[in-house]
Amino acid sequence: MPDNDKGMPAERRIGALLVISTVAALALAVVYIGGGQPQAEGALLGIALGAIGFALILWARGLSTEGTVTAERGPLGGDHEDEDVVEERIEEVSDEPGRRSVLKLFWAAGGALALAAVFPIRSLGPAPGRSLLTTAWKPGARLVDEEGRPVRVETLPVGGTLTAFPQDAEHAADSQVVVVRVADGEIRPRPGRESWSPEGYIAYSKICPHVGCPVGLYQSDTHELLCPCHQSTFDVLDGARPRFGPATRSLPQLPLAVDREGFLTAQADFDEPVGPAFWNRG
Ligand code: FES
Repeated sequence: MPDNDKGMPAERRIGALLVISTVAALALAVVYIGGGQPQAEGALLGIALGAIGFALILWARGLSTEGTVTAERGPLGGDHEDEDVVEERIEEVSDEPGRRSVLKLFWAAGGALALAAVFPIRSLGPAPGRSLLTTAWKPGARLVDEEGRPVRVETLPVGGTLTAFPQDAEHAADSQVVVVRVADGEIRPRPGRESWSPEGYIAYSKICPHVGCPVGLYQSDTHELLCPCHQSTFDVLDGARPRFGPATRSLPQLPLAVDREGFLTAQADFDEPVGPAFWNRG
């Protein structure tokens, strides 16, 4: 490899940079395993990538020549003498210890960087399993308000609304519902949901299917729920179908029942995932 600059030969400089890159990548892995420290990890990643980048630049400079070089083009093909010269030159080049060392160091630096890149996979945490598809609602779970008081069938007047949670799981953020009471017979249930709205009570997930804001504003004159973030509106009487705004999915509906003591309960969990669309939903 030509040494265009005075001082340390190019191979040595490339080798030094690759060693620096390797050490920095290994140190990055050690810092990560030791609990992580974002500033140190950022600095080490910068050093590892920077050093390997400079090494590649020096290596590329060694491969090219300065200025424009022109050469006479002779007849195509060659005689046996030329072939021997080429073979000899290839052997010479592949036997040069400096080049081989540099290539080994490139492998080492690349391997150390790849190793450091594998560790953050651990930061993804445990697989979510079915947790994105279900909530804390169980058959027979009572609805409670924000103070933990069970919701009775006479709690809301027609036109009233409240936010409810499953009893004993009041802090399950994905399970909160907005409960609305409308006059009996006003609801136009979707097929299969005829028994989900006893006494004019109807409950929908409070998490907007657009990007997850709480849908909490109810306009009783138009029977619409409004999301304050981007003004999506949902028709309460028609399965919370979106009427306006960026939301494209209806709010998931919680099937309700009234137990023998007059408390509102869930018949089951939602029949679809709540919240914004994610990768496995069309
Ligand atoms: S989050 Fe509800 S409309 Fe955007």
